[in-house]
Amino acid sequence: MKYVKYFFLILFFFNCISIYAQSYDPYIGIIPAPVSVKQNTGVFKLTPETFILVDAPDDKAVLFFKEYIKKAGYGNGFTDISNIDKKTGLTNSIKILTNFKSTIPNDGYELTITDNQITLSGKGAGLFYGIQTLIQLMDSKKAGYATLQCAVIKDNPRFAYRGMHLDVARHFFDVNFIKKYLDVMAAYKLNYFHWHLTDDQGWRIEIKKYPKLTEIGSKRAQTKVGNAIGNDSDLYDNTPYSGFYTQEEIKDIVEYADKRYITVVPEIEMPGHSLAAIASYPEMSCHPNIPYKVSENWGVTTDVLCPNDATYRILQDVLSEIVSLFPGKYVHIGGDECPKDAWRASEFCQQLIRDQRLRDENGLQSYFIQQIQKYLNARSRTIIGWDEILEGGLASNAVVMSWRGEAGGIAAAQLNHDVIMTPNSGGLYFDHSQSKSPQEPLSIGGYSPLWKIYNYDPVPVALNAEQQKHIIGVQANLWTEYIATNAKAEYMLLPRLLALAEIAWSPKGNKDYINFSEQRVARHLPRLDAQGYDYRVPEAIGADDTTLYGETFKVVLKEPMQGAKIYYTIDGYTPRETDFLYTKPITVTVPKKKRIDLQTVTISPTGKRSNVTHTYLENGVMPDFGDK
Ligand code: ACM
Repeated sequence: MKYVKYFFLILFFFNCISIYAQSYDPYIGIIPAPVSVKQNTGVFKLTPETFILVDAPDDKAVLFFKEYIKKAGYGNGFTDISNIDKKTGLTNSIKILTNFKSTIPNDGYELTITDNQITLSGKGAGLFYGIQTLIQLMDSKKAGYATLQCAVIKDNPRFAYRGMHLDVARHFFDVNFIKKYLDVMAAYKLNYFHWHLTDDQGWRIEIKKYPKLTEIGSKRAQTKVGNAIGNDSDLYDNTPYSGFYTQEEIKDIVEYADKRYITVVPEIEMPGHSLAAIASYPEMSCHPNIPYKVSENWGVTTDVLCPNDATYRILQDVLSEIVSLFPGKYVHIGGDECPKDAWRASEFCQQLIRDQRLRDENGLQSYFIQQIQKYLNARSRTIIGWDEILEGGLASNAVVMSWRGEAGGIAAAQLNHDVIMTPNSGGLYFDHSQSKSPQEPLSIGGYSPLWKIYNYDPVPVALNAEQQKHIIGVQANLWTEYIATNAKAEYMLLPRLLALAEIAWSPKGNKDYINFSEQRVARHLPRLDAQGYDYRVPEAIGADDTTLYGETFKVVLKEPMQGAKIYYTIDGYTPRETDFLYTKPITVTVPKKKRIDLQTVTISPTGKRSNVTHTYLENGVMPDFGDK
């Protein structure tokens, strides 16, 4: 080879020890990015002696902050400002005001940090979000001490509905886990927890009037092993599975969420995805003499609820208990994936279609949903349904959750329905894989990497300005067919939830994926780690699964997480802590007609590992190597 080619995996150089301190971050580490951050010189030093002055000591957000302060070991207690007016200028203090002169948008806050005082102003949820920002800035390696950069932050959310869903029917997650889930939602200013409580594989909420829903419906005999899609094997785990929440536990969760300004949206699926209910009360099916069992497999079943009197009676009683347990405005009634085979074969359904002059079975589904909607509207609740509920007509106050892409949401907004965007095609299905690497754990299929979520904009360009107002928010869904453990649920959730938070909260104009992923997420991962969350450790920045061609390569990598280490090999073996530690750019020279497999792994400070990347460096393959 007569010449030398340099291929830069990344074209810039970082001093790895101090990259985080050196790079300018317009959002000073805050996720989701605030509306505006004006950085000033100087710092506020927070110590255990810092005074905290509050004008509303019993405010829900203040009480939350008090709990946090106690645990974190900061602060000289709370002092009610009204009693000590002359102390409001006290240095080394945080002033939290619910009474203030400036105008702050709904659910917004203002946070001013000077070198001797922090002032946070906000009301209700806005104050709570300001406290979450403050907590992020207080984050410090040394318990009880922190240094906050002087700044003026003005902030309020882009969307009113910022949701995260969890399917507890396919796999059950206990109360402690749900609280941990709510904690991370609250930290990132998400405010709706969509709780998918029932499905073919399990009924997970105690209903006093219908005990069999949990006695029978919360249990399945076994569970399919491996991905059911394309897997028609009869391999099952031969292990009974069960779990449900008592009403006391439900109340506890609802209260816990409320303290964090999160509204719980319960989902009771109907008329499809209801086999657990049918197995408990077969009179809810069109063919009650068939033996039913709670599903042990995944997918869509043709056993669906029959729109008969027994079904309405039971569902209305169930919803009556639901309404008394969940004070929020929304009840989700499912409505997706309801095959019509059983209705076509039912003389009762066919007669109902004729009596009600319905178009067909789709019209019957619409009729069914409308009966339920009337019942819930009469109890001051608004229904949310998956986008199928739009087919066949719907009362205008129903909210449509657009999951099969955006088309359902666009059609719904054009018909003046409020819409929550949660398209699987937009990266918002967190049961999809986070990378294309075969090292990812079993997932349902589909590909939803962090960047895809981050790049998604919930407001479709197809809508005009008036219609766009109907997009009330965005949500990501965590379906759990292939998520049987807490650790895996957290792995699938994090850090993707951080991208969701940013698209739900931050102004579109503030988006900056490099800043988000390489600076801010890199700072948040160690913090999530310290809080005991599992998460996906990103691969080294600059290490891609690809093939590069040349002779001499300069490899420049960057840690994707503060405190993490990158190890690499060029000998074909899987890198581990005993291999080379990446500390500065490396040069790899590849002999002619050879290929070197540069492998990297990122290891977090607590030992969590990324996927291993393979970058093939080839010399002598590229067609323009005329001297080969
Ligand atoms: C859905 O994913 N079936 C709403």
